[in-house]
Amino acid sequence: MRKVGIVGLGYVGLALTKSLCEVGVQVLGFDSDKEKVTQLQNLITPNESISNDDLLKFSESGTFNVESNPTVLSEAEVVIISVPTPLNQLGKPDFKPLQSACTSVAPFLKADTLLINESTSHPGTLRNIIVPLVVDARPDRAKNIKFACSPERVNPGDSQFNHSNTPRVVSGIDEVAKSKVKEFYEKFVKEVFVASTPEVAEMSKLLENSFRLINISFINEISVFCNDKGIPIREVIAAASTKPFGFMPFYPGPGVGGHCIPVDPVYLLENAHRDGIRLPILEDAIKLNENRYKTIVEYLERQLKGLSGKRILIEGVTYKSNVRDTRETPATRILSGLKDVGAQVSWHDPLIEEWNGSRATPVSAEIWDAILVLIFHDLTDVSELMLNSKKIFDFTGRIPKSREHVQSL
Ligand SMILES: NC(=O)c1ccc[n+]([C@@H]2O[C@H](COP(=O)([O-])OP(=O)(O)OC[C@H]3O[C@@H](n4cnc5c(N)ncnc54)[C@H](O)[C@@H]3O)[C@@H](O)[C@H]2O)c1
Repeated sequence: MRKVGIVGLGYVGLALTKSLCEVGVQVLGFDSDKEKVTQLQNLITPNESISNDDLLKFSESGTFNVESNPTVLSEAEVVIISVPTPLNQLGKPDFKPLQSACTSVAPFLKADTLLINESTSHPGTLRNIIVPLVVDARPDRAKNIKFACSPERVNPGDSQFNHSNTPRVVSGIDEVAKSKVKEFYEKFVKEVFVASTPEVAEMSKLLENSFRLINISFINEISVFCNDKGIPIREVIAAASTKPFGFMPFYPGPGVGGHCIPVDPVYLLENAHRDGIRLPILEDAIKLNENRYKTIVEYLERQLKGLSGKRILIEGVTYKSNVRDTRETPATRILSGLKDVGAQVSWHDPLIEEWNGSRATPVSAEIWDAILVLIFHDLTDVSELMLNSKKIFDFTGRIPKSREHVQSL
């Protein structure tokens, strides 16, 4: 049985754990969060990437060991880094988790370990950040460790696409690393694309996510225009989508959230700025997304003839459907934007009990002046929303427009 170490057991690390354990690989997991490690050792999942049943199954078969000490990695032939690449308080890339992961795992790497970075970052991260840190910590192994990258594409909550049927982009520092990383992913992924350099692989991920951010910001902008003109935007998109070439639908919403789409483009932008390169389209898309809440608050003010004293319920506070992840959720800005203009705002989400320092309010607590449906989960109860609102503003396209008080945005 092959032994694979995973550094960082979050959404990405646990999804990988599941895929690898399922093909008989033994996973040695290391996470610096002791509480999370204890939770996993007690076979309780912290997120949707892996179930409690999976944890029990893999623990009984001895395929998953998890520790808060990197020594657990010392027998691994392959080590994958999947730690956060967030923004700091100034909104700039924060490389600390990645740097600390490199320095803490380096002492435990075997001579011929294949070290793969799956965390998202700017092009040059493998070559200019990871390799020097590991080489500094282990000069004796520098020549033999194989450095590679494969930016993760997992889409939490997606029942159609998984590791097996989502093609992988991989690359390595040299030809041996490239061929080893290809061989590794081919064990559990149907299609592997080998990029000529790590920079191509790293850049491909930033291109994918920047493309998505730009297009979502664009459709949000167009939706403002359409709402103003009384043109139903979703029907416009359906009509445009009949074109069999040259068009790809994106849908309006409350703004993008999560650990990837709003964050990764900032890594690209900062990297470009450092070299004196401007990326104005991307820059605008980031700003439009950050300010999406203002457009929404202004629109609601017009529709409800003022928001002061209005009782508003925000339905759905995660950043996407059917996941419990609230990182960078647009609900945060919308909630405070509404409060700033005097609305009395509560929130509810069938997947979340506590968020943003408060507990969820039941939908049935009162008849709300308005319910804003930001995110729709399989567990969202449409009839309860209908019964308890004077008006519904739907950002999801999932609330039937059978009654007049539903307004699709
Ligand atoms: N969540 C997604 O949908 C997704 C999809 C594709 C790519 N990514 C990328 O994958 C990376 C990981 O994202 P995630 O969503 O899994 O993050 P996460 O926050 O869910 O999990 C990261 C884990 O790493 C641990 N950690 C942090 N620093 C560590 C260190 N120095 N040593 C050991 N463990 C450490 C944390 O405790 C946490 O458990 C990011 O770069 C992200 O951009 C995420």
